[in-house]
Amino acid sequence: MTQPLRPDLTDGVVRLRAPKPSDAAARFKLGNTPEIHQMFGVDPKHVPGITKDHAQKWYEAQAVEPLAWVIEYKKRMIGALRIHSVNTWDARASFAIGILDPKALGKGIGTRATHLIAAHAFGALALHRLSVRVLDFNARAVACCRKVGFVEEGIERQSSFCAGDWHDSILMGLIKPEYSPAVYPARKPRKAAKPRAKALA
Ligand SMILES: CC(C)(COP(=O)(O)OP(=O)(O)OC[C@H]1O[C@@H](n2cnc3c(N)ncnc32)[C@H](O)[C@@H]1OP(=O)(O)O)[C@@H](O)C(=O)NCCC(=O)NCCS
Repeated sequence: MTQPLRPDLTDGVVRLRAPKPSDAAARFKLGNTPEIHQMFGVDPKHVPGITKDHAQKWYEAQAVEPLAWVIEYKKRMIGALRIHSVNTWDARASFAIGILDPKALGKGIGTRATHLIAAHAFGALALHRLSVRVLDFNARAVACCRKVGFVEEGIERQSSFCAGDWHDSILMGLIKPEYSPAVYPARKPRKAAKPRAKALA
């Protein structure tokens, strides 16, 4: 049997999985957070509220992308990521990530998800290079990508007009020979359940 294009990817804490129809309702619940949408280049003062129609279209957009996964944390859908612009001849592609739950930011989830996608890109997908573009004010995304091994390779000057000002895009890249997969400490084994002596007596 051939390997599915987007298998479940997990490190035991974060799970990347193919989108499913119930993600539309989950996306609606997450709403639109100005702080997050600003990182995609939207003026935070003009972020529209989410509608059910929007959430449905968001789900459909993930579902038709062959290399889009949703990010699950504690069994909840909290965002999405995708590999796009694949060039098979040069074995390179770009990736984009968005955690959409403001409460889930800054907890290491993005770093874990980026590691999962990098390991998959250089493993099953046999890519040699992964690129990402980050707006110059998105220090968290730069830090996250650096932690996974991406390096800043260039600046695309004044490529985004956001909140009344021009911003640069930072171009970051990771190549297979330089990638070291994440090593996380082993999780403590669960305590064995106490024998229910009384109940059985
Ligand atoms: C970018 C993103 C994926 C990072 O994921 P995250 O789970 O929030 O970030 P992490 O907790 O993994 O943090 C990674 C590093 O960023 C640093 N960081 C966290 N919050 C930060 C902040 N507000 N400013 C600067 N650095 C920050 C942390 O120090 C961490 O490094 P450390 O573990 O060595 O301390 C996530 O924040 C996100 O999706 N944001 C909204 C959309 C977006 O920016 N997408 C990226 C566009 S390319």
